[in-house]
Amino acid sequence: MSSEQWWRNAVVYQIYPRSFADGNGDGMGDVPGMTARLPYLASLGVDAVWVSPWYPSPMNDGGYDVADYRGIDPMFGTFVDAIEFIAAAHKLGIRVLIDLVPNHCSSEHPWFQAALADPDAPERDLFWFRPGRGTNGDQPPTNWASMFGGPAWTRTTNPDGSPGDWYLHMFDVTQPDWNWDNPVVVDEFDDILRFWFDRGIDGFRIDVADSMAKDRSLPDATVAPGATEPHPRAPDAIWNQPGLEAIQRRWRKVADEYVDTPQGPRVFVAEAYLDPVDILVPYVSPGRLHTTFNFNALESAWLAESQRLVINTTYTAHRGVGAPTTWVLGNHDNVRVATRFGKAETGVDFASGREAEEPILLANRLRVLPTDSALGLRRARAAAMLELALPGGAYIYQGEELGLDEVEDLPEELLQDPTWERSGHKIRGRDGCRVPLPWSGDEPPFGFGPSGVPWLPQPERWAGSTAEKQVSDPNSTWTMYREALRLRKELPAFRGDFAWHESDGGDVLAFSRDDEVACVVNFGAEPVSLPDGEVLLTSTPLVDGLLPSDATAWIATW
Ligand code: GLC
Repeated sequence: MSSEQWWRNAVVYQIYPRSFADGNGDGMGDVPGMTARLPYLASLGVDAVWVSPWYPSPMNDGGYDVADYRGIDPMFGTFVDAIEFIAAAHKLGIRVLIDLVPNHCSSEHPWFQAALADPDAPERDLFWFRPGRGTNGDQPPTNWASMFGGPAWTRTTNPDGSPGDWYLHMFDVTQPDWNWDNPVVVDEFDDILRFWFDRGIDGFRIDVADSMAKDRSLPDATVAPGATEPHPRAPDAIWNQPGLEAIQRRWRKVADEYVDTPQGPRVFVAEAYLDPVDILVPYVSPGRLHTTFNFNALESAWLAESQRLVINTTYTAHRGVGAPTTWVLGNHDNVRVATRFGKAETGVDFASGREAEEPILLANRLRVLPTDSALGLRRARAAAMLELALPGGAYIYQGEELGLDEVEDLPEELLQDPTWERSGHKIRGRDGCRVPLPWSGDEPPFGFGPSGVPWLPQPERWAGSTAEKQVSDPNSTWTMYREALRLRKELPAFRGDFAWHESDGGDVLAFSRDDEVACVVNFGAEPVSLPDGEVLLTSTPLVDGLLPSDATAWIATW
């Protein structure tokens, strides 16, 4: 593999291991299943995969509760399976990013267990243990709320049975936050990075990349007027603290130790829902991280004005620090794009300045709106061609290439997202976008594994959406993605300059790459004419040479 800066325009496919492919027939996706399906990803044409956590975990938050950062959960296979997966991917020219979860671990992590077992243990300072407030210490140390509902602190019991200190968990009660002020934590993560880089990993996706550094004075958060508790994002002490910069620079140095290896640069992509983008781009300034997810793109409504604004602001801001932009339509935390775009409300209207909303809350609110699934799919296809024509990297969440929609009616007793319990069954959570993929056949389990019942039930309606059917259908969403990825790779214009096209305006969003390829998206109700040139690809067939509503076309204008 070359050492060019591959990450600047890589198309990265997200694998959520539990739901991608089941190799052993237990109904859970696993690493051998992933390895077996690598040729599928190679024929789709992706440059890299990002694998959501595969580490040993009690799976209280789908593996984002890590008990051992250097292993593989037996549910997913063995360590040897993982090494074989990395090698098999590399053989096919696919790079491998894995998830780093540095804000918190699992309460089953041995260091947290040691901290719990003895209030005087040195491990205690690796986490945030604090006495409670109030006369008996029975009030949490701060008023902070957890991202999954309920308080962000849980009280411990001392070994002698008496009530003890409280510990901080910004997510589930089984996800204690690490104390990044303690050098043992800092060194441990340096070591974890090197451990996986030495085993051939090409990069890390950094989970909750804006929360590791904390203000030690732990001030209370402001409670919004009319609310009973602060929003989980309210504590300034937690989010986007200045101390993050030192951590990022340190990690960059570790990654840069590998720049001159035959495999080439190792990279980071930060998960940080920070808005506006100006507070995010310092993360990717020189000497810090390589890329961040563009969540404004993911959250933007299907409106020309909103998309145009997001493209302008994110592209300009990233260029200002010399970093590539990324484009994202979905992931394992958000409503699938084919469903979101089929609703009356399609996301955040940035052009109107509407406030962003936490993804989990947005999902819950959108769920009650009916979905026009044909419209949603049509727009999702148009959106995919839009994001793949833009400069920078792009992410595909598994199943987007099949046009899969959200499963909004999973039976309550099967819901696994911790939000469901912690919100007192008010917020269903994110399981609807995590349903196992349909590979083949006409009925569930659609070839997900050799046998077994998938851990979440697949809808019958996916019979027409299996990979098997779509790979051989020239009009399928899969084939559109494959063609888009092929053109993107073959035509140098897709690595060239970005400029708004003269036909851009109103409901028509249009830009060109290197004056050679134009991308035109019609957000309006009426068909529109296209610039002169050869039509390379469309998301929906043209009608009398015109681009219909909710469609994208790529035109060679050279
Ligand atoms: C990130 C992950 C999400 C997880 C949370 C806590 O947002 O994407 O799935 O629940 O972090 O680790």
